[in-house]
Amino acid sequence: MNDRPTHRIAVIPGDGIGTEVVPAAQRVLDRAGKLFGFRFAWTEFDWSCERYTRTGAMMPGDALDRLREHDQVFLGAVGYPGVPDHVSLWGLLIPIRRTFQQYINLRPVKLLRGITSPLRGVEPGAVDFVAVRENNEGEYSEIGGRLYTGTPQELAIQEAVFTRHGVSRVLRYAFALARGRQGRLTSATKSNGIIHTMPFWDQLVGEVSAEYPEVTTAQYHIDALAALFVLDPGRFDVVVGSNLFGDILTDLGAAVVGSIGIAPSANLNPEGEFPSMFEPVHGSAPDIAGQGIANPIGQIWSGSMMIDQLGHPGAGAAVLAAVEDVLGSSDVRTPDLGGKANTAQVADAVIDALGDHQPR
Ligand SMILES: NC(=O)c1ccc[n+]([C@@H]2O[C@H](COP(=O)([O-])OP(=O)(O)OC[C@H]3O[C@@H](n4cnc5c(N)ncnc54)[C@H](O)[C@@H]3O)[C@@H](O)[C@H]2O)c1
Repeated sequence: MNDRPTHRIAVIPGDGIGTEVVPAAQRVLDRAGKLFGFRFAWTEFDWSCERYTRTGAMMPGDALDRLREHDQVFLGAVGYPGVPDHVSLWGLLIPIRRTFQQYINLRPVKLLRGITSPLRGVEPGAVDFVAVRENNEGEYSEIGGRLYTGTPQELAIQEAVFTRHGVSRVLRYAFALARGRQGRLTSATKSNGIIHTMPFWDQLVGEVSAEYPEVTTAQYHIDALAALFVLDPGRFDVVVGSNLFGDILTDLGAAVVGSIGIAPSANLNPEGEFPSMFEPVHGSAPDIAGQGIANPIGQIWSGSMMIDQLGHPGAGAAVLAAVEDVLGSSDVRTPDLGGKANTAQVADAVIDALGDHQPR
């Protein structure tokens, strides 16, 4: 099997439980590669808040050049008490997402077999949609500033950036995704209160929708949409939103389908010109770090999305099916899901279950 294709993956475990769930997920992915005929060459980087406290930088000056040599990036989580969150975000995550034009943040919101939703009467299979968040511009911008600091006149201004190029490309991605699914797209807006950028977003939704006549479009203000995520999450197929709206909605989506410890995400450069980056939705969870009880499923599911992107969709689907087998047919689960298993035991169970999903 020496001729198995090899995928070069940059691994950034990061901080806290990132350093626990990443190795667990790597074991699952290595097993999937063995069953489906490919392999990973992992290169690990210690870029993290821990490194920041030692050196004053989350990552070295040539970090992006080093990542560029890899096919994809597999990230755990960054952030730790004592290091302000904007340092970890702007010192690592955002430079990677922006330099590599990872303008799609893709987050499946699916209620897996064996998971109980906090919502009454919502059964597995009833919630299965994909959230597409704009990931490079929007409300998360460096443009702005503060004046008269420390005086009664103190003020802060934060500019949002919405470009025709940036908005149209995320909308095209979302419409194309909907076309390949059930053909329903929901757009998050707030054009009643935010009177420049959001009407522009809505206008572009209208323009791009004309290119996808087979997709039906619905549009909701973000507040009403958040309520619908709770009241009727089964109605959605593909939901698209700006950077901030997508960020908030997807944490809500993760909560609706069980636990933040399960939710996966992909930061995609769809053209493949740069590496994409795969990471769970959760953070470094300092409250449980070091105990070996973090749920590895968000990291494993993110890994299954990475395998899909590397061109092995059968293997990606098999990893997710193995996760569902473990959750649906056994009591092996971490404490956040009411179980007693540790991180490694969950990964071991998924590896065992993968055997039932190997190619025939
Ligand atoms: N992409 C990222 O790297 C990322 C994302 C979110 C937060 N963060 C950072 O992580 C740090 C902690 O943030 P937070 O507490 O708001 O969010 P968090 O996601 O780390 O934790 C929120 C809660 O969920 C629990 N939890 C999260 N992941 C879990 C898992 N895999 N298994 C079991 N329980 C899990 C935690 O124990 C905690 O109670 C902060 O520094 C924040 O900036 C980083």
